[in-house]
Amino acid sequence: MNYKSHHTPIIFLTPAFSQSMATLWNSALWVLCLLVLCLAADGYGESTCDLYKGNWVRDDSYPHYRSCPFLEKAFDCQGNGRPDHDYMKYRWQPGDCNMTRFNGRDFLTRFKGKKVLFVGDSLSLNQWQSLTCMLYNSVPRTKYTLFRSGGLSTFTFKEYNLQLSFDRNPFIVDIVRTDAGRALVLDSVNGSRQLWEDNDVLIFDSWHWWLHTGRKQPWDFIQMGGLTMRDMDRLSAYEIALKTWAEWANSSIDPAKTKVFFQGVSPDHANCSAQREPLRGVDHYRDPAEEVLEKVIGSMDKMLVRLLNVNEMSRARKDGHPSLYGLGGHRGMDCTHWCLAGVPDTWNELLYATLIRE
Ligand SMILES: *[C@@H]1O[C@H](CO)[C@@H](O)[C@H](O)[C@H]1NC(C)=O
Ligand SMILES: *[C@@H]1O[C@H](CO)[C@@H](O)[C@H](O)[C@H]1NC(C)=O
Ligand SMILES: *[C@@H]1O[C@H](CO)[C@@H](O)[C@H](O)[C@H]1NC(C)=O
Ligand SMILES: *[C@@H]1O[C@H](CO)[C@@H](O)[C@H](O)[C@H]1NC(C)=O
Repeated sequence: MNYKSHHTPIIFLTPAFSQSMATLWNSALWVLCLLVLCLAADGYGESTCDLYKGNWVRDDSYPHYRSCPFLEKAFDCQGNGRPDHDYMKYRWQPGDCNMTRFNGRDFLTRFKGKKVLFVGDSLSLNQWQSLTCMLYNSVPRTKYTLFRSGGLSTFTFKEYNLQLSFDRNPFIVDIVRTDAGRALVLDSVNGSRQLWEDNDVLIFDSWHWWLHTGRKQPWDFIQMGGLTMRDMDRLSAYEIALKTWAEWANSSIDPAKTKVFFQGVSPDHANCSAQREPLRGVDHYRDPAEEVLEKVIGSMDKMLVRLLNVNEMSRARKDGHPSLYGLGGHRGMDCTHWCLAGVPDTWNELLYATLIRE
């Protein structure tokens, strides 16, 4: 019995219908292709995903390095006798995608012959040290040089002709010596711009020195637009300085040549002693200095500068500070800087993920 042939006419298609089916099939194929592409891209830590929304998860393959021959004592918590290790075993996991794992050799190869400069206070020093340690660990016997001259420290990977520098400059705007004393000049970056402009990657930070008074305040008065002031609201002064910096970036940076980052405000904790694991749960505290920074960066061209948004994620890492195992030892309590290996390694993973995504 020819049952099949008897029924075939039912699925015979008119030319028009078959064409529309073909179109439909084509569209379906496209959708499928796009889906596959999106999924493939997602595995790479994708551009649509907010890398800064996520969680700290325990990962025993961490830290990136066990020791680092040029690590500063201030960050060398294990060397200073910190007894616990768990604080080094946390990885940042974005909620909506997986971050590309840091690959030091790939970084060195991609940035061969290039110049990377960190500019800012000791939190910038913290991140610069972390990056040099992470990279050195990926090629442990490679030749390097480390020079210091004034506030500028330069680490060079000879084989890759890659220069990673740190310029100690906590206010970013100029401090100028005058007959009347030291002026913090809120509307000038003349003193540093030449140093900055000759780089391929720039990572800035500021804020922590803006609140210093008395002997820790390295200026005597504030200048702006030819006016001189004894002092002013520090948060407002910081905002004016950031805007001066933003104007400089807008007028002097060629985004095709130089990638510019600003490190979010690194959070302090009042008393961080005896903390052995990240805090659970989020508080919704908004750091005023971070708000000012986000406002200024948010007003700038997205192609020009990227916020390295470390504020919120690092707030959970009360365990990551040196506490009694920093420079001050048992007499000090450092809940500002971060142990290395540790939290700034994650900041550099984010820096890397952002750089290779572009
Ligand atoms: C991230 O990686 C894990 C483990 O490899 C996998 O199970 C998960 O589906 C990935 N998530 C995304 C969003 O790609
Ligand atoms: C910065 O340089 C500009 C242009 O050369 C000059 O007009 C300005 O006075 C300088 N500012 C300071 C504080 O040196
Ligand atoms: C950036 O510079 C351009 C001209 O070079 C100007 O039109 C624009 O207003 C500037 N933007 C900011 C935020 O300063
Ligand atoms: C800091 O916290 C630890 C542990 O919670 C406590 O033992 C210590 O007394 C605190 N120190 C100060 C200065 O509050």
